[in-house]
Amino acid sequence: MTNQPSNLEAQLEALRQEAQQVIAAADTLERLEELRVVYLGKKGQLSALLRSMGQLSTEERPRIGAITNTVKEVLQSDLEKQRTRLQTAQLQAQLEAETLDVTMAGVYRPLGRIHPLNSTIDRVLDIFVGLGYTVAEGPEMETDYYNFEALNFLPDHPARDMQDTLYLPDGNLLRTHTSNVQIRYMEESDPPVRIAVPGRVYRRDTVDATHSAVFHQIEILAVDEGLTFTDLKGTIKVFLQEMFGDVPIRFRASYFPFTEPSAEVDVQWKGRWLEVMGCGMVDPNVFKAVGYDSEVYTGFAAGMGIERLAMVLHQIDDIRRFYNSDLRFLQQF
Ligand code: DAH
Repeated sequence: MTNQPSNLEAQLEALRQEAQQVIAAADTLERLEELRVVYLGKKGQLSALLRSMGQLSTEERPRIGAITNTVKEVLQSDLEKQRTRLQTAQLQAQLEAETLDVTMAGVYRPLGRIHPLNSTIDRVLDIFVGLGYTVAEGPEMETDYYNFEALNFLPDHPARDMQDTLYLPDGNLLRTHTSNVQIRYMEESDPPVRIAVPGRVYRRDTVDATHSAVFHQIEILAVDEGLTFTDLKGTIKVFLQEMFGDVPIRFRASYFPFTEPSAEVDVQWKGRWLEVMGCGMVDPNVFKAVGYDSEVYTGFAAGMGIERLAMVLHQIDDIRRFYNSDLRFLQQF
């Protein structure tokens, strides 16, 4: 079949019309690429028409060639415009999809609170730091020496008894009080000393409303030249007034191996006398153990149970409430 010039021209015109319509209707970039291949590709429709140009006369060839070029340029330009249009629309859709709606309701994140034991520790430490004390810490796994011997516990002292102390398989123990840090700190530092030592302690106690096998203490130690029992009393008084307000306090004579004299301190709270700490003047034997000269230095120490303080402060009736993670309890603080 031969192709007449007029026939070829009509076919080119038909191709142009069809292609322009389909390109304008293309709704994806993939579809557009398909169309480019169909019309302008090496094996596309325009190339197929061009191939039949060989049959044209030399006069007709340039004219039809020019028309072909125009069709090609028109289609290329249409493809390009449509591509830009589709890309813009795609970007627009993406931007809209990624829009942040700042008026949407947020995700509810409940506020955390400080555990009453931690806030009690913080309060006590704040007061002593305000009085010039440094916070110190020490190990919970301890040797008999630091927990007992260096603190002047005689070898047969009942506190060493298996009933109170949790021993580890290697013969060491879980410290029964934070007083171990007195020894560890003084071994490492020369006087003067002023430390406040928070920490966990362990006892072989049966758990009930007022006992826990694990609880918290804060230990206080001051060593200097010329410290007296009056300094101890004054410090404790200032501390308790900061803690409880202007409540009556009293000192009762007591006994601890590492202090002499020793006392227990009570505060009158809601009409009752409540014991809140032990204290005393550092026993010379303790100074001897750490190499301090007890002819030059004196000191006082105190130890308080944090759970006890928190229970008194907040009128909590059962020590186990601190450890149960019951939100109804914790949310009150
Ligand atoms: N370590 C004692 C206990 O756990 C408390 C204590 C009493 C600490 C008197 C002291 C102190 O530093 O001087 O029961």
